[in-house]
Formats: sequence, C-alpha cells, structure tokens
Amino acid sequence: MKKAFGDHVVLNDLNFTVNKGDRVTLIGPSGSGKTTILRLVMTLEELTDGYIYIDGEPLTHTVRDGKRVELREKHRNHIRQRIGMVFQQFNLFPNMTVMENIIEAPVHVLKMPKKQAVERGRELLAKVGLADKENAHPMELSGGQQQRVAIARALAMDPEILLLDEVTSALDPEIVGEVLEVLRAVARTTDITMLIVTHEMQFARDVSNRVLMFDSGSIVEEASPEVMFTDPQEQRTKDFLAAVLDQ
Ligand SMILES: Nc1ncnc2c1ncn2[C@@H]1O[C@H](COP(=O)(O)OP(=O)(O)OP(=O)(O)O)[C@@H](O)[C@H]1O
Ligand SMILES: [Mg+2]
Repeated sequence: MKKAFGDHVVLNDLNFTVNKGDRVTLIGPSGSGKTTILRLVMTLEELTDGYIYIDGEPLTHTVRDGKRVELREKHRNHIRQRIGMVFQQFNLFPNMTVMENIIEAPVHVLKMPKKQAVERGRELLAKVGLADKENAHPMELSGGQQQRVAIARALAMDPEILLLDEVTSALDPEIVGEVLEVLRAVARTTDITMLIVTHEMQFARDVSNRVLMFDSGSIVEEASPEVMFTDPQEQRTKDFLAAVLDQ
C-alpha cells in the first residue's frame, strides 16, 4: 500500500500481513508512519494506492476488471465495526457520562438494546477497575481512568482487531502501570488481534508475539520480541532501541 499527504510519501510499497490473534508491536522513530498505519486500518485516513484486507475482505478498495476501485462507504463502515482503536489522547466524548461513552456505538451502530449495552458496559467497567464511575464525566477522572474508559469503550464493540496508539504516552509515569495492566489482562483473556504502537518495551515484550521496526514508512526489521529487544540485527534498530531504552 501507499500513503502520501500531498507530495509527501509517508508509506511506499508497504506490505505486511497480520494473522488472526497476532499481537504485533510497531516500533520506530517519530514520523516513521506508525500512527498513519493504524489510522488507515481504522479508515480515518484514505489510502493513496494499494489495498488493505481484513480477514480476506478488502477494506476500502478492491480490484475490478483490472482496475482499482473504491468500495462503498457502507461496506467500509461495516468492516470497521470489527475494529476498535484507542488513541493517545483518550478521545472520550466530554459531554457524556462514562456509561454513555461506552454504550454510544453499541446502541447506535450495532443497534444493541440499551439495557443490554448497559449490562455489558458494567461488565467492562468492572474489568477495567471502574465499576463505581459509570455516572462520572470524563473531566472528573484521572488520565489513567479516562484511558481505561476508552479501552472499555473500544471493547464494547467486541472488536476482532484492537489498535492501540501510544495509549500511555499522555499519562503520568505512576499511572502508566494501571493502564498496561488492563491491557495485559485483555491480551491474556481474549484472542483479539492487536496492533500496538508503544514505547513501553517491557509491555511490548510481555504482550506481543511479533515486533516490526519501521523507519521512513518501511519495515527495517521484523522479529520476535525476544530477538528484537535483545539481539536486533539491523544497525538502525540497534540505534533506535539504544536511544529509547536510554531514556
Ligand atoms: N494529516 C497529515 N497531514 C500531513 N502530513 C501528515 C499527516 N499525518 C501524518 N503526517 C506525516 O506523516 C509522517 C508519519 O506520521 P505518523 O504520525 O504516522 O508517524 P509516527 O510514526 O506515528 O510518529 P510518532 O512516533 O511521532 O507518533 C510524518 O512525516 C507526518 O508529518
Ligand atoms: Mg504516532
């Protein structure tokens, strides 16, 4: 696939496959295209060329009579329901309570009965350790709590794929742990496919089975976390990890 913003080509000829149940961590320097990849999968950005397939189905474009054609909005929205994303900046709806945030998409997109959505919401809030916060507004919560709500909100759609973009980067160091613990539990107790962008290398090691090192929109190196973090082969990876782990 290819992604350019104007003349600026961010991803060129990028091609990789994520298997069902994989936990893939994307690492690489700032500007290497990690967020862009997740946003493309979430259809928040338009692909410039090429294709993305979700479980064998084309996401936004397909080939017909040898030509690349765009698929209908309805098709991409349908597939996107199977994908959840959590952002660095929580992105909760500030005017809604925690519970309203969580049930919004299940009720409006999946047409789930409200009562059922609330029940499921309560289960999820318990899971992320916020059973007592369903009526709070995001502003009344700490960053770590807001991020745990955002995780519960993503899980409320029962996603097959979860995209996590530096979900702890905006948090104070002492509350990073509580959010990572929730995500570790999600990884342990579900078979959700995960694409993870993080600077938390220990977390990446614990949770992922593959690590992709990016630079300038290309994959520089791919390895298991054990190999990537202890015995990387490429000089670019060695330099990057030395800089990150030095902080
Ligand atoms: N909306 C946009 N318009 C123009 N350029 C953009 C846009 N979004 C991203 N870019 C450019 O695309 C490149 C890749 O950005 P991206 O955010 O994917 O990097 P990243 O690997 O996530 O970096 P970071 O580690 O800093 O989050 C950068 O050069 C960035 O400036
Ligand atoms: Mg980014």
